[in-house]
Amino acid sequence: MRHTAAVAARADKSAVTVAPADRDVLVAAAWLHDIGYAEALRDTGFHPLDGARHLEQLGWPRRVCALVAHHSGARLVAGVLGLVDQLDAYPHEDDAVSDALTYADQTVDNKGRRVTIRVRLEDMFRRHGPDSPNGRGHHLRAPHLLAVADRVERRRLARRS
Ligand SMILES: [Fe+2]
Repeated sequence: MRHTAAVAARADKSAVTVAPADRDVLVAAAWLHDIGYAEALRDTGFHPLDGARHLEQLGWPRRVCALVAHHSGARLVAGVLGLVDQLDAYPHEDDAVSDALTYADQTVDNKGRRVTIRVRLEDMFRRHGPDSPNGRGHHLRAPHLLAVADRVERRRLARRS
């Protein structure tokens, strides 16, 4: 999947914004973050949760499963779907690593092209539609994702100076 490979490459580039010890877990989570879209894994139909559960069954480290569960503001969409309790079975890491994963996912489009986060948000809203779970959570998720992007970009700049 071109999107996934591009997200992993973006995560690798953003790895300077996380502690060296966290870089491998970031890139692993980037490769795995959308595994829950696989038809064979479909259970709740919410790909972050289905993906995290599958990875847990395979024995992936809990932290990787949790990053996948909560990537890209998943909790805000889970609220619309009534799946917050199930998602919260996974710890919600809210730090530079989760930010870098979300940033990588939200700055690559579904075909793997580099896009700005605003273009990505508009594209997602158009593709999913206002009545979709993503669309209904958009008013909460959009500011969350923009704030994540702002934090990651600041960290990247700080690394350069
Ligand atoms: Fe993704």
